[in-house]
Amino acid sequence: MIMDAARISKALGLSHVEFRKEVTSTQDAARASQASPPYLVCALEQSAGKGRLGRRWQSDRGGLYFSMVVQRPEEDWAVPLVSAYALWKGLSSKVLSLKLKWPNDLYAEDKKLAGIMVEGWDDRLAIGVGVNVNQQGFEGSLASSAVSLRMLAGAEFDLEALLIDTVSLILKAMDELAEHGFQFFQPALRRVLLEADQPVKVIRDNRTYTGRLLDLGPSGEALVQGSEGELFTVPAQHLLEAR
Ligand code: BTN
Repeated sequence: MIMDAARISKALGLSHVEFRKEVTSTQDAARASQASPPYLVCALEQSAGKGRLGRRWQSDRGGLYFSMVVQRPEEDWAVPLVSAYALWKGLSSKVLSLKLKWPNDLYAEDKKLAGIMVEGWDDRLAIGVGVNVNQQGFEGSLASSAVSLRMLAGAEFDLEALLIDTVSLILKAMDELAEHGFQFFQPALRRVLLEADQPVKVIRDNRTYTGRLLDLGPSGEALVQGSEGELFTVPAQHLLEAR
């Protein structure tokens, strides 16, 4: 299933779309590009896909891997949360009981379906999105922790159509963020995150704490209660990774 950059570019109204069969990471290719934002870099596979906080993102064929580079908005700290909400909305129309786990992971049947990382440099942000789409199973530690749309829905998905749908929802959310601010998203995002009630992780002083999300405030700050009752406030700024 080969994607067509010209078709994608036309459908999304983007003047620059780079499609690669294989890259190390679309985030790195996006950083190296000379294009002016907004632009999109997508790939069929990544040899060194990156996850948040220095983790790896397994990127075999069958998944959707892209980096959407946008001009840094005023409320740049809100982009990881708002783009995750857009992705959750888009994919919720395809599979049932999709949960948005703070800050920006999508889970179904207690397994990870998709993840987002947002890296910023200069006046740009690269919204990196990975979705498990047509994989029919996972090996090793992922066998019990990852799931794909195909495994959930029992049908194959058209990667190009999914890319176009997903990127348009993210771009629409970026326009809404610029126009109305984070306050436009906060009530719905808070509800979806709290309803998901997924265990969340907080890193403090090089220690990882597992806890529950108690609240998401008006500036995107998360209030998390650790397993021993300790309270943490995580500012939304912590979700943006610099590079
Ligand atoms: C996470 O859950 O930790 C975030 C995963 C983000 C993966 C995507 S795949 C496309 C883009 N390129 C990368 O190297 N990573 C992001």
